[in-house]
Amino acid sequence: MNNPQRYLITAALPYANGPSHIGHMAGAYLPADIYVRYLRRRKRDVVFICGSDEHGAAITIQAKKENKTPKEIVDKYHAIIKKTFEDFAISFDIYHRTSEPIHHETSQEFFLKLYENNIFEEKENEQYYDEQFNQFLADRYITGTCPVCANPNAYGDQCERCGTSLSPTDLINPISTLSNKAPIKRKTKHWYLPLNKFEEWLKDWIIDGNGRSEEWKKNVMGQCASWLNEGLHPRAITRDLDWGVKVPLPDAEGKVLYVWMDAPIGYISATKQWAIDNNRDWKPYWQHADTKLLHFIGKDNIVFHCLIFPCILKSHGDYILPTNVPANEFMNLEGEKISTSRNWNIQLHEYLNEFPGKEDVMRYVLASNFPETKDSEFTWKDFQAKNNNELVAILGNFMNRVLVLTHKYCDGKIPAENESLLNENYIIEYKKNIRRIINEEYIPAIENYRFRDGMAAMMDVVRLGNKLLTDYEPWKLIKTDVEKTTGVLRICLESMIDIAILCEPYLPFTAKKIFNVLNVKNTNYDFEFCQQRLSTENKIGEAVYLFEKIDDAVIHKKLEELEIIHNRRIEQQNINTPVETKIYTSVKSTIQFDEFAKLDLRTGIIIEAEKIPKTDKLLKLKVDIGFEQRTILSGIAQHFTPSELINKKVTVVVNLAPRIMKGIESNGMILMAEDAKGKLYFIQAEGLKDGGMTVS
Ligand code: 2FM
Ligand code: ZN
Repeated sequence: MNNPQRYLITAALPYANGPSHIGHMAGAYLPADIYVRYLRRRKRDVVFICGSDEHGAAITIQAKKENKTPKEIVDKYHAIIKKTFEDFAISFDIYHRTSEPIHHETSQEFFLKLYENNIFEEKENEQYYDEQFNQFLADRYITGTCPVCANPNAYGDQCERCGTSLSPTDLINPISTLSNKAPIKRKTKHWYLPLNKFEEWLKDWIIDGNGRSEEWKKNVMGQCASWLNEGLHPRAITRDLDWGVKVPLPDAEGKVLYVWMDAPIGYISATKQWAIDNNRDWKPYWQHADTKLLHFIGKDNIVFHCLIFPCILKSHGDYILPTNVPANEFMNLEGEKISTSRNWNIQLHEYLNEFPGKEDVMRYVLASNFPETKDSEFTWKDFQAKNNNELVAILGNFMNRVLVLTHKYCDGKIPAENESLLNENYIIEYKKNIRRIINEEYIPAIENYRFRDGMAAMMDVVRLGNKLLTDYEPWKLIKTDVEKTTGVLRICLESMIDIAILCEPYLPFTAKKIFNVLNVKNTNYDFEFCQQRLSTENKIGEAVYLFEKIDDAVIHKKLEELEIIHNRRIEQQNINTPVETKIYTSVKSTIQFDEFAKLDLRTGIIIEAEKIPKTDKLLKLKVDIGFEQRTILSGIAQHFTPSELINKKVTVVVNLAPRIMKGIESNGMILMAEDAKGKLYFIQAEGLKDGGMTVS
């Protein structure tokens, strides 16, 4: 029971309404793929499931935006998303679609079973209806003024400005996005899942159950506990829409299942399709208690996978419940939330067009930065640094050095072992260390969904290899002891196989290249020492470079592209913000000269700028004010990106009392001018080259 051999791994079904970006990849698909590749290598019985989520308002709204039918939209994006996953070697056993008939049948059977088990409550209530388009309006089809912050463009389910969760009836002056007219209220009947009745069972299952609080991640447990503490309410699991899985009841004309009812069942229908395609039985994976069912998702999906779907599975009665839901938080991009609608993202298929052959570079950078316990950040500078300083300088360098030396001193053949070298303490310790890193760091990290740590452990093995070369200096040793030299290279070549195996879950393209160059045919090893498998018959291939340096110019171009988008957005916001009629604020009360003279103003130059996590507004700046460099926090993050601030000339109040914000001490204030539209301008000294001039 402790270590079951059968696993069903699912990764959130992405909406087929747009291409995938790095946030999706870092949130669910890459962690799942790493885990699955690891399990396969450990010879576990694994099925890895995913597919496109093709229903719901996300699809119909995109269809309207592109002036296409929902079917055209899902066909288009399903193909793009599927290809992106293939290109990045995400190794699903099946990538299915919720528009397939087998999915509609499976979802309807599920609904009917719950219906027959008397699980649902039927309720009639009033919902917004568009008379011109003759349809009820999904939450996202209604906009209006947010009752909390007065944003005039809040949606029926959420205000994106202040983040408040809303329901359509909360909006002031609601408008239908279909007709741009005020909707009317009309009665409609729906089926509800009474989540409130499952509260006690859920608390028992999640919070108290079976050591889950130790095994489940804190971020996941935290969200579940907070939903349960606030209390659950019945949720409608049907909608008035003509796109989706039809409600299989006689009096349900024009009604479909709510997308969050049918999407998780998509995991089951995809498994059924996989079983048909491979002549296997799907049932043990979903119905035998010794299967481990794991859902890889992003944090916005936690409630659906940890609370709602388990209630659905339990209500059915024949299914197992998830063993774990190792959800990730979000990955931000250059200090801002990733957003498709605001074009603030890195689409994966575009990345590959620009960086062909660099699939593993992106896999590496994302994995090193997985938002495993809290939100994390992708920056292009970090991408470059991880590529140049880690992949090129550590991993690529080790392999290249070993291959070059093997060609030089062994004529490109795998040398024999050197017995006396194997008995040297250094080598005994070296091998022990690698074994220890694999057993005590790498394996436990992956088993516990700490994929960043697993990858760091893998790089530590590479570092040991580089150190061995540096310590034995084969290029000097060759002059005095040829056999020992070739023995050292043999050990390095063996380590390269270990490294290939360790890096395969993370960097499958690189692993393949290493196996190829070493001419290793059977690569199907578990995580164990592999030296006995390296035959002296093998001739190695050319000394290749696994990775290449990325120049500053490439990174600057990427940053410039983002800055253009950022600036355009700010301009757009300014155009949309009505110009205040009162342009000039009234003059403050008079002060005396000696009060003014207390102000110590100096010119400065911003030399560093970074976003402060978990704030929308604050930037942490380092400012050179001549006699010293000051840390100053400034609330300008919504107006400037950190990179555009470098070398900006500014004026600073240098004798302002220090203030601590977000745990950081701010020492001074940067003066800004603000126009009537809220655009900010720095107060700059013309011709300033170095900071430190006194302003008076
Ligand atoms: O958030 C999303 O992208 C959803 N389409 C995820 C669905 S996961 C599952 F339940 F299918
Ligand atoms: Zn609001």
